[in-house]
Amino acid sequence: MALSLPAADPSYFRDVRPLLQRQCQGCHQPNLKSSNLDLTSYQGVKEGGKRGSAFGLLVPFLTGEMKPQMPLGQPPLAPEQIELVRNWVAAGAKDDTPAGAVEGPALGAPTVYTQPPVLTALAFSPDGRMLAVSGNREILLHTLDGSQPPRRLPGLSDSILSLAFSRDGSLLVAGGGVPARFGEIQFWDLPAGELRRSVMLTGDTVFGVSLSPDATRVAAGCTDNSVRIVDAVTGKELTKMGAHENWVLGTVFSVDGKRVVSVSRDRSAKLTDTATGAFQENINLLRGELAAVARHPSRDIVVIGGEDRYPYVYLMDRPKNMKIADDSTLVRKLERQNGAITALAWSADGKRIAVGGAAPEVNVYDADTGARVAACRGHSAGIYSVAFSPDSATIATGGFDGTLRLYDAATGALKKAFVPVPLEKATAGAGGAQ
Ligand code: HEC
Repeated sequence: MALSLPAADPSYFRDVRPLLQRQCQGCHQPNLKSSNLDLTSYQGVKEGGKRGSAFGLLVPFLTGEMKPQMPLGQPPLAPEQIELVRNWVAAGAKDDTPAGAVEGPALGAPTVYTQPPVLTALAFSPDGRMLAVSGNREILLHTLDGSQPPRRLPGLSDSILSLAFSRDGSLLVAGGGVPARFGEIQFWDLPAGELRRSVMLTGDTVFGVSLSPDATRVAAGCTDNSVRIVDAVTGKELTKMGAHENWVLGTVFSVDGKRVVSVSRDRSAKLTDTATGAFQENINLLRGELAAVARHPSRDIVVIGGEDRYPYVYLMDRPKNMKIADDSTLVRKLERQNGAITALAWSADGKRIAVGGAAPEVNVYDADTGARVAACRGHSAGIYSVAFSPDSATIATGGFDGTLRLYDAATGALKKAFVPVPLEKATAGAGGAQ
């Protein structure tokens, strides 16, 4: 997204607000007020933090005149961006937010649902006792035995498109954002359920966020065609990989965490070195746009899928004596689905692959033979998210119909179906807020 040049009459709404959202709200937001400062709203800037109103503090902290220089731990803003803030403050720091414009999430107010949200991401905790589910501007943590009401983890992103737990269950990573405004990676401390960090990336939603096996790094697919690797401890961007020619919708690390496979609308699945960002090779022959990728739990084999409806199982590595661009690393092509593929999962025991997409069903395959072993039916609309429980016995599925379904992975029998958010009754005629 191009930033506007410093205008003679700088606007908070048009110029300053998007800049603060991109660069600052990761640390200065209602959930995580570094120095007690919330920069997500005009009101927050005005009220300021520990040192009082932020109007007079923005520029000195941006230039480094006051320390530590902001944005903390990141390169300073470009001179013209600082100039823009300076001009806005000099012109009286006016709020020109148009009446009715949505100014981020309402502070502290939990999302109210009058209809089920699209379920775009799901993940089981490693002990199998919890299921994290995406909601609108929040994540819901359900206990699978239903012993407690779901915990709600509110964030800045309107939608959460990826969820991943660390192996020890102490960290939950979420990726998402607000289209054309920002992409975000959230790091939640568990079991406390506290936001440890939020990292803002690009000016658009991020896709296919995955966690390295040792939970030290996160990979994110971006609409600027890059894959970013972010340090999970410091939040710093370590590498930006730019080999794709279109949006990157999925990522997964290799077993040793040193490489990442990314899939894109440019139709390729690419293997990249995460330390150097060096592109290694295209894994697949180009067919349709790709939307999803999953890896075998302990081997460097991936399943990819997308537009052409076939799940393809590929070796990540090409034996040395093979020619580039042949298809000899293709291990297996699974059955054609009834719609484009949007979600893939590989069971923890390595034996099953689950495939979901535009058709209202999830098919389960024997990973060794490619035979279909189960079909999970009952959804009334397309699928967006699929996850196996850690014991590989259960599949959780979600999508456009907003109902979370749990199926027996061996038979496809439905075990449970529920709407994972608290639903309010829509007040007749009042058009209750979403
Ligand atoms: C990685 C986290 C992080 C990011 C990103 C970040 N800040 Fe900060 N900010 C902090 C921390 C921590 C402090 C407290 C520093 C201290 O006082 O030692 C702080 C303090 C401040 C203060 C002083 C507030 C007060 O009253 O004490 C201002 C102003 C500020 N930041 C502005 C910004 C702006 C503007 C941006 C974006 C361009 C930004 N920050 C991005 C972490 C961050």
